[in-house]
Amino acid sequence: MSTETLSSAEKDPKRRRVTTARLSEMKGRGEKIAMLTAYDYSFARILDHAGLDVLLVGDSASNVIHGHETTVPITLNQMIDHAAAVVRAVKRALVVVDMPFGSYQGNSTLALESAVRIMKESGAHGVKMEGGAVIADSIKRIVGAGIPVMGHLGLTPQSIYKFGTYVVRATAEDEAEQLVKDAMLLQTIGCFGIVLEKIPAKLAERITRLLSIPVIGIGAGPGVDGQVLVTHDMLGINNEFSPRFLRLYARLYDVMKGAFEQYMVDVKAGRFPNDDESY
Ligand code: KIV
Repeated sequence: MSTETLSSAEKDPKRRRVTTARLSEMKGRGEKIAMLTAYDYSFARILDHAGLDVLLVGDSASNVIHGHETTVPITLNQMIDHAAAVVRAVKRALVVVDMPFGSYQGNSTLALESAVRIMKESGAHGVKMEGGAVIADSIKRIVGAGIPVMGHLGLTPQSIYKFGTYVVRATAEDEAEQLVKDAMLLQTIGCFGIVLEKIPAKLAERITRLLSIPVIGIGAGPGVDGQVLVTHDMLGINNEFSPRFLRLYARLYDVMKGAFEQYMVDVKAGRFPNDDESY
């Protein structure tokens, strides 16, 4: 398409919709990709206005929204509800939705059905799946149906009961080599990008150089094509979660608790509402 036929929004990089092709172009020119999680309309609206490239409707909603200890319990229906709310808010960012545990591990038919439901019922732009060679058939089938798939390797929280801990992954040579093989396989079978979670920075950098698709890191050091964090974590909403890889951009636990306490004091003292706040 020539630039003459583009609308003004499409010509302006700050307003132009982010697509998987644009992410690939960003990697090509060394422009870092900024991704954060979103689970509802109000947060997604702010994130999109701020200019985030990718919004991930992460199954971390299981922890930060629903209060579960792991990402295992969240259901496909819950993920679709979160994703639909996010999509309603977004004008620019690419919206990628985690396929929850149990919605794709069974077989490739189940996987395709789950991915199709996410795309049709939420209006999202792609899905993310945890795992390498073991889920390759499912990824091929979903990509074959025209659905963009993002891979996720390293620490894969849906397998927490297999590993038993959230420690850094692929520190041993054999696990690191398997990770490199899995990353290359994900690229070969058509993933448009991958997330690498909690692995040594040098290994993440090596994989990023090897792959032509964008690599997004979380706890994977600076040598990747972009970064993702759980929004509630980087905002400091949970004052008891502070892993090494997390940078706190706000301390909303304190801000919000302070506001709630002040409201309570005002109500109990009869200071809210005042005349200006009344009809
Ligand atoms: O569910 C999630 O939020 C994720 C990110 C941590 C990458 O998968």
